Amino acid sequence: MAIVIEGPRTDRKPRDPAEPLRGANIVVGIAGGIASYKAAELVRMLDKAGATVDVAMTPRAQKFIGPMTFQALTRRPVFTDLFNLTEEANIGHIQLADRADLIVIAPATANAIARLAAGLADDAVTAIALASRAPILVAPSMNVNMWNHPLTRANLQRLVEVARYHVVGPGDGFLACRWTGPGRLAEPADILEAAAHVLSRQDLAGKKIVVTAGPTYEAIDPVRFVGNRSSGKMGVALAAAAQRRGASVTLILGPSGVPPPVGVTANTVESAAQLQWALGNAVKDADVVVMTAAVGDYRPAKEAKEKIKRGELGSKMQIDLVANPDLLAELGAKRKGKTPLLVGFAAETTDVLENATKKLASKNCDLIVANDVSEPGAGFAVDTNHVTLVDVAGAEEIPAGPKSEVAHRILDRITAMLAAPPPMSTKPAKKPRRKS
Ligand code: CTP
Repeated sequence: MAIVIEGPRTDRKPRDPAEPLRGANIVVGIAGGIASYKAAELVRMLDKAGATVDVAMTPRAQKFIGPMTFQALTRRPVFTDLFNLTEEANIGHIQLADRADLIVIAPATANAIARLAAGLADDAVTAIALASRAPILVAPSMNVNMWNHPLTRANLQRLVEVARYHVVGPGDGFLACRWTGPGRLAEPADILEAAAHVLSRQDLAGKKIVVTAGPTYEAIDPVRFVGNRSSGKMGVALAAAAQRRGASVTLILGPSGVPPPVGVTANTVESAAQLQWALGNAVKDADVVVMTAAVGDYRPAKEAKEKIKRGELGSKMQIDLVANPDLLAELGAKRKGKTPLLVGFAAETTDVLENATKKLASKNCDLIVANDVSEPGAGFAVDTNHVTLVDVAGAEEIPAGPKSEVAHRILDRITAMLAAPPPMSTKPAKKPRRKS
């Protein structure tokens, strides 16, 4: 069967990712760390995107980079000292806090995060943050051990849960302290994108979204398993993006090296059976379930309690596999009406759209995100993806891009479907059409 792809829908204009920044009053709070200098690039980008940027610096930040740099970039006075009579007379930290549409704290050091979490207000940055009712985005940057410290994690969790802070990063890599791991300030472009999303409508506020991600490992014995190549990156990107858009997110994550995003309720699992159990609990009051997980279709019929020795088996090993339940199809069959909205993924290597269209009907879901995992730059392990959204109305190809951007495009569609639920028909999807 020849399948053709419809072009982008004409009712949806391509989004300018920086659009929400235009005309916004943004306070950039800079704490003192080796990454403080990177705030200059962020401030320049925010200014270029059309935001009015005011900069506040802690005394420690001023040891790493001078206020003059920011004054030149913003053409505005820089707020450095709570007790400076001229600064207070000119702007005043309360005025700055009041008129801010968004506060971005970058870099947010472990110290700054702890002080914010404790509600301290004794420098320009913490005072503005505490006095403001604007949303606050923090971009952590610190040594890997500080980042992994349970106190830092607890402080950040407190900021997210108690004060609804948003978090971007940190990135992973080689750090100035010579350690390698998480702790790098997110790239200025990523902070800019996160700022735009925080400023844009919180279109998933009040919604509960469950995302499953990663592979499952089905144990053969205590050291071996049957698994697959899924990395979990697409699902984790979806969970982070949904959280940023205001949703309350539960992420059920199979074995994956990708850390769950801060602010998301994460539940780590290993096998399909564990995933099924966690999903059963999480979906009870969910508005949306997104099944990104590559659930193993089969598991060994028996899990050996002891390691199977090579010598016992000779030259041939046979494993009896039994089918795992299709978790998405089970949810599709069980739900009443269209709640929760069900989104499946179809990882294919051939006949992508035909297979996706069949899965849409057979699993009774509302949307299938289809991708050809054999295409370079799409599917497992890579940071980019190229997907097609398939629903009863047809197919829409999403331009290839970073998984974080693809995640937002998928959420755009989910948001639209939540606003106007698709018809109750269980008729098979219409054949996708190519736009001439
Ligand atoms: N899925 C599931 N339970 C399974 C297998 C898959 O819930 N046991 C879900 C996946 O999370 C995904 C969708 O079903 O959202 C499609 O998964 P995919 O692996 O592409 O397809 P399968 O259903 O396994 O079918 P096939 O292997 O024949 O392509």
